[in-house]
Amino acid sequence: MTDNFIQSKIIDDVTAPQLAKAEAVASLHQKNGVTPKYFIQTFGCQQNEADSERLAGLCTMMGYEPASSPAEAKLILCNTCAVREHAEKKALSIIGQYKHIKDADPSVIIGVGGCMVTQQARADKLKMSYPYVSFTFDTGAIHTVPTLVYEALTGGKRRFVLSDEWKISEGLPITRSSRHQAWLSIMYGCNNFCSYCIVPYVRGRERSRKAEDIIEEARQLIAGGAKDITLLGQNVNSYKGGDGCDIAELMHRICALDGDFRLRFMTSHPKDASDRLIEAMASEEKIVKHFHLPVQSGSDRILAEMNRKYTRDSYLEKIAKLKAAVPDVSITSDIIVGFPGETDEDFEDTLSMMSEVRYDMVFSFIYSPRSGTPAAKMENQIPREVSSARMERLLALGDGISKERNQRFVGRTLRVLVEDVSKYDSTTLTGRGNPVRPIHFKGDKSLIGQFVNVKITGNETFCLNGELV
Ligand code: 5AD
Ligand code: SF4
Repeated sequence: MTDNFIQSKIIDDVTAPQLAKAEAVASLHQKNGVTPKYFIQTFGCQQNEADSERLAGLCTMMGYEPASSPAEAKLILCNTCAVREHAEKKALSIIGQYKHIKDADPSVIIGVGGCMVTQQARADKLKMSYPYVSFTFDTGAIHTVPTLVYEALTGGKRRFVLSDEWKISEGLPITRSSRHQAWLSIMYGCNNFCSYCIVPYVRGRERSRKAEDIIEEARQLIAGGAKDITLLGQNVNSYKGGDGCDIAELMHRICALDGDFRLRFMTSHPKDASDRLIEAMASEEKIVKHFHLPVQSGSDRILAEMNRKYTRDSYLEKIAKLKAAVPDVSITSDIIVGFPGETDEDFEDTLSMMSEVRYDMVFSFIYSPRSGTPAAKMENQIPREVSSARMERLLALGDGISKERNQRFVGRTLRVLVEDVSKYDSTTLTGRGNPVRPIHFKGDKSLIGQFVNVKITGNETFCLNGELV
């Protein structure tokens, strides 16, 4: 087993039989005297990346080794996203390419999971039009993959799993893709039903893990070398761990663990951005001073149509509190352009919101109608040319503000976790600290995974440059 494999000590009744099945798959391979390879293709958000690490953990338990390309693999798993149409198209195109692999070797098993196939219509499409796909599994059925693989290996029928209910499966093994950076899911699902969003339909209702289970996993991660832990959830700040344990309390408890590490969290909903959470960020040294607080729009009319449950003013009040409590905070946001009925005035409100908040970075998206959501049925869908022109203006404004915000770091020495070697130059390292943009500096790759001090010397729009101190 690889160094990056971790197996939790707490295994619940949902997970235990599946782990036994994983061992049964490993025995089959052993009997045949083979060590086959697996390949996982991941689309979408950090939650999907975390899910893929659990899938990799199951593959490791089932006796597979990682492959560097799908062509080498005997088991291919595709973890899909459904948040925008583009993501679904990309996944379908990649799955289409797997046909050649299956034609060349009919013993290859291909499974598709994630948000796309949690929609009945998409699962049906894969069943009918992609006959080489062995099984699909929804976002609540990741733990069932060992059974699905076992059945596929032993000549069972194709399976298309859509669960009746979403349970937490505690104790799935994890094969982490990085030793020093870790995702830690603390809750799943979403209750907010923003009118444009497919997530509540494909990830189910909110359910929080028990605080003790999360803290135990954090302890294990830190012992295994994790230095940067991100608490994950679709709506992470509505975490309810029982006995009044909210996200602020949970973070205080994790920060109290021994070790040199730092803590992040995402994604937050503005309605649940509590004073307690802001105070936790202000008081705990280990919490990174970065708050991702998606605003989506600056227009009260559009916010109401989006069912966001806050107003421009109440959002700005939270931002003011946050800036007062954490003066050096980096604030980022998601913004949707071209929501149905968005007028020029509404869009100007979004631009003025950006100018007022002065975001360190904005992730912007052109509205994509999602079948089954209320917004997809709204009149006044915005023509693509109008949305694209608005998007260009938003990007230009966002990049200018981002560069101005980065400027405050120039001349300062920052504590940076070295993450990797630059893709463009093997003598340059990249790392991250409080700034949301990556930091580039010269150094040896033996520093990867360590904290170093870097003096920031330059500011580009998409990164900061510096030198080791
Ligand atoms: N169209 C465009 N963007 C969307 N998002 C969610 N649903 C849609 C959609 N239908 C964006 C939101 C969310 C981010 C993860 O994706 O901005 O915060
Ligand atoms: Fe989607 Fe809104 Fe839930 Fe975020 S809070 S996942 S945008 S429904």
